[in-house]
Amino acid sequence: MNLAYANRPTSPIPVRPVLEGRELTKSFWVKQGRGLFAQRARVHAVEGVTVRLDPGTVTALVGESGAGKTTVARLLAKIIKPDAGEVLLDGRPAPEARSRAYAAQVQMVFQDPFASLNPVHRVRHHLVRPLQIHHMANGNLEAAVADLLRRVALKPPDHFARKFPHELSGGQRQRVAIARGLAVRPRVLIADEPVSMLDVSIRLGVLNLLADLRDREKLAILYVTHDIASARYLADTIMVMYAGQLVETAPSVTLTDRPAHPYTQLLLAAAPDPDRLKPPALAGRGAPPSLLAPPSGCRFHPRCPYVMEICKRQVPPSVAVSSDHSAACWLHVDPKTQRVNDKHSLATERDSVDQRNEER
Ligand SMILES: Nc1ncnc2c1ncn2[C@@H]1O[C@H](COP(=O)(O)OP(=O)(O)OP(=O)(O)O)[C@@H](O)[C@H]1O
Ligand code: SF4
Ligand SMILES: [Mg+2]
Repeated sequence: MNLAYANRPTSPIPVRPVLEGRELTKSFWVKQGRGLFAQRARVHAVEGVTVRLDPGTVTALVGESGAGKTTVARLLAKIIKPDAGEVLLDGRPAPEARSRAYAAQVQMVFQDPFASLNPVHRVRHHLVRPLQIHHMANGNLEAAVADLLRRVALKPPDHFARKFPHELSGGQRQRVAIARGLAVRPRVLIADEPVSMLDVSIRLGVLNLLADLRDREKLAILYVTHDIASARYLADTIMVMYAGQLVETAPSVTLTDRPAHPYTQLLLAAAPDPDRLKPPALAGRGAPPSLLAPPSGCRFHPRCPYVMEICKRQVPPSVAVSSDHSAACWLHVDPKTQRVNDKHSLATERDSVDQRNEER
């Protein structure tokens, strides 16, 4: 996709987040081996992830497969419980489990619009159910269904309400899934890879719909994706995850124009580019680590072109490289003071690492 922007400059007025995840940590126990030799092992899926979702804002969570994006999304939606950390709705601790009241505020849209709609029911049925369960129709179900279909640009609504899922295109099905999420008038929409299963030609329409819902209805949207180009197009803020941890956060234009973390630089270098002649840079730099035994120190160190000794031993702290831009990388930290390096020393350090790598 060759994408310009559907995002806007960030508002200078501080806003209160609708939904926050603070220091979220989650691991899963899995069985390894067979029979008598089977052992339980721990997958460190998410560690210490802090995320805030503001009204009228799209925040993108970007990373390769297995980075922990869906786990963060499910933690925020209260589908699973964290081992540590907390979720706050309007600044107050969210209920332990996903109650009906919580679901009315925080809705999820999944990757596969084929699987998320029951093939034996018409579109109308899929929309009527949440309207009835949450008493959202104000006594006029047909008008409420038509309104939902209009909000996701499926017009004329009567025509689409009568359709079965298999009679719709992938993009239309995803719009129905989004309409179903909107039925309860949520304030937060968590969209996990909502366009990755759609034809490239119809992805843009669904991204524009999300941008429209952000702007018109002031929804706080978490857009989960492995595609940093679409995140740049849609999101106001991008958070980059690697191997279960956040490595960089910034306004999307800043992050993609001036990436501070080497992993973000590689992600950008690997983004689809029709003009590229050589294979993407990430392809030649190994694969993400197993989360059963993540690498010591910086988890990215086995793949990092700038790796230094300290990276292998110590976890880099997250530091502010500018007022709204943070990165967790030793290139930006003075190891003695644990404070951010100034621009000059950062550039010098990077140059000298570049030089060492060239000499090898
Ligand atoms: N229920 C589970 N049981 C065991 N392991 C799990 C479970 N859910 C996730 N994991 C593991 O946690 C890690 C993070 O998975 P997650 O689905 O959050 O990644 P992701 O970034 O969404 O990846 P993708 O882009 O492939 O969807 C992976 O190693 C995954 O195998
Ligand atoms: S901390 Fe070290 S290994 Fe990790 S990204 Fe920064 S330079 Fe690379
Ligand atoms: Mg996922």
